[in-house]
Amino acid sequence: AASLFSSGLLAGKRVLITAGPTREALDPVRYISNHSSGRMGYALATAAVDAGARTTLVSGPVNLPVPEHVQCHRVESALEMLEKCQQLVADCDIFIACAAVADYRPAQVQPQKIKKGDDTTTLELVKNPDIVSTVAASENGPFTVGFAAETRDVLHYARSKMQRKSLDMIIANDVSDSSIGFNSAENEVTVLWPGGEQTLARANKAAIARQIVELIANHR
Ligand code: CTP
Ligand code: CA
Repeated sequence: AASLFSSGLLAGKRVLITAGPTREALDPVRYISNHSSGRMGYALATAAVDAGARTTLVSGPVNLPVPEHVQCHRVESALEMLEKCQQLVADCDIFIACAAVADYRPAQVQPQKIKKGDDTTTLELVKNPDIVSTVAASENGPFTVGFAAETRDVLHYARSKMQRKSLDMIIANDVSDSSIGFNSAENEVTVLWPGGEQTLARANKAAIARQIVELIANHR
């Protein structure tokens, strides 16, 4: 399959993509997570392969087949996702953070199933490390692309997120409209980079992914 990686916009490039949700354990039978389907990240992996890239996914728990010619590493928690990305990032040219990483995890994972008790209870949470910021801050790091899930002032928050995390590109997702984005088949995004932006009209995630890959190839 060497010829597979010899032509296309990203011929011979190595692309690493995070996808899906993370699961943050509370006890042996419970976790905190979110509704990310993983579809956008998996569509990006397919588009990267089609563009000639050697493509690796670091994926949280999802119900999707691994795209052909993609190497997939399965993880559960944000800490596991960070560790796997750190192992793999030295060997990549482009990093795309598409995962919906849980911002917080339970401060303690109980070794036994938590028993029901009082009528109210509180849960202590601690912040997870920011995976895409960590990658962007690494020396001689890859071209780093993030997503920004926002419900208001989408482009404003996305651009400041790109700057704060030192990203080369960010894909702004309006998650206030539940018919697109997070857990749906279609998406509508605006891609921002330091010198400009481009809105990609509503389309299925495969079409959006191909356009994102083309923009990455043109701007890296
Ligand atoms: N991200 C990450 N590690 C985290 C949290 C987020 O790598 N612990 C990445 C996501 O994969 C995405 C980008 O950061 O590419 C932005 O995620 P988002 O949830 O929109 O932003 P946050 O920085 O978490 O800020 P907030 O949720 O408060 O808006
Ligand atoms: Ca977040």
